[in-house]
Amino acid sequence: FQPERDNSKGFDLAHIPTLEMIERARMPHADAQWQAGPLLADAAPQDTKATAEPVANPARPAGGPGTVIPASAADVERALSSARPWQADAAERARVLRVAADLYEKHFGEIFALVAREAGKSLPDAVGELREAVDFLRYYAANIPDGPPAGVFTCISPWNFPLAIFTGQVSAALATGNAVLAKPAPQTPLIAFRAVQLLHEAGVPRTALQLLPGGPQVGATLTSDPRVDGVAFTGSTATALKIRAAMAGNLTPGAPLIAETGGLNAMIVDSTALPEQAVQAIVESAFQSAGQRCSALRCLYVQEDIADDLLTMLKGAMDALQMGDPWHLSTDVGPVIDENARSGILEHVAKARAEGRVLKEVSVPPDGLFVSPTLISVGGIRELETEVFGPVLHVARFRAADLDKVIEDINATGYGLTFGLQTRIDDRVQHVTEAIHAGNIYVNRNQIGAIVGSQPFGGEGLSGTGPKAGGPNYMTRFLAPDRRETDA
Ligand code: NAD
Ligand code: ALA
Repeated sequence: FQPERDNSKGFDLAHIPTLEMIERARMPHADAQWQAGPLLADAAPQDTKATAEPVANPARPAGGPGTVIPASAADVERALSSARPWQADAAERARVLRVAADLYEKHFGEIFALVAREAGKSLPDAVGELREAVDFLRYYAANIPDGPPAGVFTCISPWNFPLAIFTGQVSAALATGNAVLAKPAPQTPLIAFRAVQLLHEAGVPRTALQLLPGGPQVGATLTSDPRVDGVAFTGSTATALKIRAAMAGNLTPGAPLIAETGGLNAMIVDSTALPEQAVQAIVESAFQSAGQRCSALRCLYVQEDIADDLLTMLKGAMDALQMGDPWHLSTDVGPVIDENARSGILEHVAKARAEGRVLKEVSVPPDGLFVSPTLISVGGIRELETEVFGPVLHVARFRAADLDKVIEDINATGYGLTFGLQTRIDDRVQHVTEAIHAGNIYVNRNQIGAIVGSQPFGGEGLSGTGPKAGGPNYMTRFLAPDRRETDA
């Protein structure tokens, strides 16, 4: 099966004229103030008592990018009662989604500014964010399966891919003809608001796509109302379990929940690995996006024979990381998303420090929600109870004879999202990749940044239900019951 696709070429950030062009396009938005709120199908006036809440910039306490009016209970009710599946045929839906992709690209300067100021994304991450979003739009437009839509789909997304994952869920549901009720993460409503405006501008009817900014309460209503026919959710495993329970009590039996959740992702580096390649892959996997990727490396296993040398190199590479405001082109590692996230990560690091297990930290800028990239020594992955969603890497040593025990421990976490292997032994690649339970396995490279169409993304066990996003089976789950495929 070779799905049709035409992925974005992105931007070459090593090319000075390209960087200058990006700077010119971003600068008008450096101090802009965006305003977001519910985008509903019916044109009834907004509740005049509703108050706009400030949206924070995680890198700059005083540099917030705008305000949002969260959806009220009345807004949610209006959206539920006015949602209508998209009546246009598949070719027309595909055409409109392609127009939306072009519009996203046309607004790249504003999008890069917004994701830096609202989500704390560095420029390379912002480029990746836009690329993935337009790849989803074009890939789903090109691969619409036959069949009627499920009906009304709720799409709930996280803040860490505020454009890409938001757009991926929404575009798959729309491509298959569903009405979509989209609830973005409360930390990143402005990007979602602009995305929905652009989708409407491209031609998606307002009855087929409504935006309901807000927090868990809005999400809870949108996943428990019997008028909803399915839910696409990306976020933590704990929230997915709550949504599953809410759906089971209220929605039609069999209504699909497509959940993409967290991970306790490991990498194994054996003594034959190329050290420079391994260190680069470790730094990117653990610290890019300040470790705020579900795919990020959380537990590194290094074969004992090379561990001292490899960790010396890794610490040197961490010293070279530039932390700072993601607006600056020199920034490698930006802030974490909010104070709640920062305090949780720092608490984890403080506990490890008290136990004498912190191997490396670097200094952080004084203002903004920064957390140092940190190495923590552990005996093995079983010591990690849950995903620490930040730039914290746990490191364990293993002996060659214990490789199968390491694999067993990684599988025993119950998660299965990404996994990395660094080795030059072909038989070992075969053995380890067959034995590991993970949705996305990467050999001799980093383990983040799956490419739509080439590397469908999604996990197993506690990491998600499948089917994988950006892959051939994903959209069938958005169809009416008899047309669904269930394999990942
Ligand atoms: P989260 O679970 O706290 O929130 C995700 C979304 O769910 C938000 O929009 C939130 O408002 C909403 N929500 C919260 N409680 C709800 C409820 N009871 N009912 C309905 N909706 C509710 O996750 P987060 O902090 O925004 O994102 C980080 C998490 O997402 C991490 O665990 C990360 O691993 C995971 N993630 C997974 C993938 C993947 O593809 N597997 C991708 C990105 C992020
Ligand atoms: N798809 C994202 C990645 O692979 C989460 O990093």
